[in-house]
Amino acid sequence: MASEYVQETIGVSEAPAKDLVIKCDNLVKIYKTKDIEVLALQGLDLEIERGELMAIIGNSGSGKSTFLNMIGGLDRPSAGRLIVDGKDLFKLTEKELVEYKRKTVGFVWQNSARNLLPYLTAWENIQMPMLFDRTDLTRDHAFELLEMVGLAHRRNSKLSMLSGGEQQRIAIAIALANNPTILLADEPTGAVDVKTSAYILDMFREINKNMGTTIVIVTHDRQLSKKVNRVASIRDGKISSERIMKQSYKDRLSEIGAFTEESDVQDEYAILDRAGRVQIPQEVLEKLGIEGNRVKLEEEDGRIVISKP
Ligand SMILES: Nc1ncnc2c1ncn2[C@@H]1O[C@H](COP(=O)(O)OP(=O)(O)O)[C@@H](O)[C@H]1O
Ligand SMILES: [Mg+2]
Repeated sequence: MASEYVQETIGVSEAPAKDLVIKCDNLVKIYKTKDIEVLALQGLDLEIERGELMAIIGNSGSGKSTFLNMIGGLDRPSAGRLIVDGKDLFKLTEKELVEYKRKTVGFVWQNSARNLLPYLTAWENIQMPMLFDRTDLTRDHAFELLEMVGLAHRRNSKLSMLSGGEQQRIAIAIALANNPTILLADEPTGAVDVKTSAYILDMFREINKNMGTTIVIVTHDRQLSKKVNRVASIRDGKISSERIMKQSYKDRLSEIGAFTEESDVQDEYAILDRAGRVQIPQEVLEKLGIEGNRVKLEEEDGRIVISKP
């Protein structure tokens, strides 16, 4: 179903066909309250490939949760185009949307209490989302998921007896219960300590590798964002820049099978929109002392040089 968009990509750029699981064009979300309108997404463009593990960072209020809620089908976008796993989210009926939320996406929130039932055990909690498709396999599958998040030994503990980090791991197991194509995590490490945060990221990497699940993590955590292949920065409801892990680094990682704590692991890219506009990060403008709305533009040996006029 996604092939329509894959072909479109070939037509435009002749780059090798990408298998996009999320394609977001000029996405706009306006929240209307009684007397004000908030423009939470202002024409956001983003493509995410099937099987990617990527992060979205940005200041509070920049539109991260809004974007994740749009992909998750929790709220409807106002304008633009949003295709997820071949489905046009503008065209889904309410019934199709329910099915979409159950099968295509899994959600993890910062506050895991939102996904969990405190009076049930860890094992029972994980079986909950599978009750609709109940088979004899449900209990076994729930147990496998418990093992995957390293909590099989806590299976009979009531949720209220588990630590915050453990509860968050249960929430991840629940999000995966229906084997979603995409796992969406909104600040999943926002309320846990550094050690648990690292553990959770490792789990995401394992899930991504072993199950092929596409994972999108919204985070404030710069350490975490250095450890994924791609990080998109969101500013004022738009993607403002991207950092992509250097190929040399990826090769090294697959050799040693682990991440180290080097800072210079990603290349930074500015975003070029369809009208040819590019946004230069504020820090760069400040560093070069560029003020006002004019810059000097020169072409030099296949490069574009932007400098202070
Ligand atoms: N339900 C809502 N009603 C009105 N405004 C909202 C709603 N949700 C978010 N906003 C506003 O939209 C903007 C983006 O919010 P949000 O996506 O939550 O940002 P982030 O997750 O990056 O902190 C903010 O200005 C926020 O106040
Ligand atoms: Mg948020």
